[in-house]
Amino acid sequence: MLAKIEQLLQEVENITASNADELEALRIKYLSKKGAINALMADFRNVPAEQKKEVGMKLNELKNRAQERIAELKDAFDSKDTGAAELDLTRTAYPIELGTRHPLNIVRNEIIDIFGRMGFTIADGPEVEDDWHVFSSMNFAEDHPARDMQDTFFIESHPDIILRTHTSSVQSRVMEVSQPPIRVICPGRVYRNEAISYRAHCFFHQVEGLYIDKNVSFTDLKQVLLQFAQEMFGPETKIRLRPSYFPFTEPSAEMDISCDICGGKGCAFCKYTGWVEILGCGMVDPAVLEANGIDSKVYTGYAFGMGVERITNLKYKVKDLRMFSENDTRFLKEFESAN
Ligand code: PHE
Repeated sequence: MLAKIEQLLQEVENITASNADELEALRIKYLSKKGAINALMADFRNVPAEQKKEVGMKLNELKNRAQERIAELKDAFDSKDTGAAELDLTRTAYPIELGTRHPLNIVRNEIIDIFGRMGFTIADGPEVEDDWHVFSSMNFAEDHPARDMQDTFFIESHPDIILRTHTSSVQSRVMEVSQPPIRVICPGRVYRNEAISYRAHCFFHQVEGLYIDKNVSFTDLKQVLLQFAQEMFGPETKIRLRPSYFPFTEPSAEMDISCDICGGKGCAFCKYTGWVEILGCGMVDPAVLEANGIDSKVYTGYAFGMGVERITNLKYKVKDLRMFSENDTRFLKEFESAN
């Protein structure tokens, strides 16, 4: 019996397991009710009385060593397991998919391209702005409703600092540091305090344009916008200008394009009018030129501004504005081929 115990002790010292199943098999082999050690325990009854002490001690040693060895091997697994627990199971399975350009960027780039070919350069400015560049320099009266808390995000402790509500602020910044001829477009993100729904968000993207020179007329504006509409929506596209009001332009207009779903016949998309609105525009109000250091007796100019979301909705028939900011890759991947 002693020899048998010695042999098992040797065996137990050398056990190895390369996975949890193997380890469990070892536990069953040595330590379970029907295991080798229990079998020896059962035989212990038959050990002659004078050997009982020695055999008993050896048997206990064997049992302890077996338990220790199994625990050691288990520890080795557990420390490997911590590595496994750090695995990010939400990660995309290999191979990691390539990203695609965001639909708003695709359309913004297209707008920039079209105006770039007509000689417009890009101007940029801060999203956190002051009242002067967003409103005052743009001829907004002191009590104009657009300054109201409902539309504009203010910084509580600094009522003069706001999130820009349009990129006209960039036009103001361009005018204050340069003299005509000025021909710029101002793409960028703007913020308005609106309840988020399928048709409004608290931020969106604009491209505004400004052209100032001698003898710039409304005809120039109309031609540039027609060219833009036909490049963006197809050569058959017609435009229509409706009188409107903006504090910074006089006269002001809103531009519609012929509905490209029904070809102008009238459908649910254009609310049976045959037209859909795409932008605001007008001749720069002389008061704006003067406020920004440009002589309104010498120069005239036009300005226009459009929402990139709106243009993207029309081009790709996206019904819910929120899709643009939810980062749902199933939606974003639909624009892969437009890249
Ligand atoms: N700034 C206007 C807006 O945010 C758009 C616009 C720009 C209209 C230039 C006319 C001329 O709604």
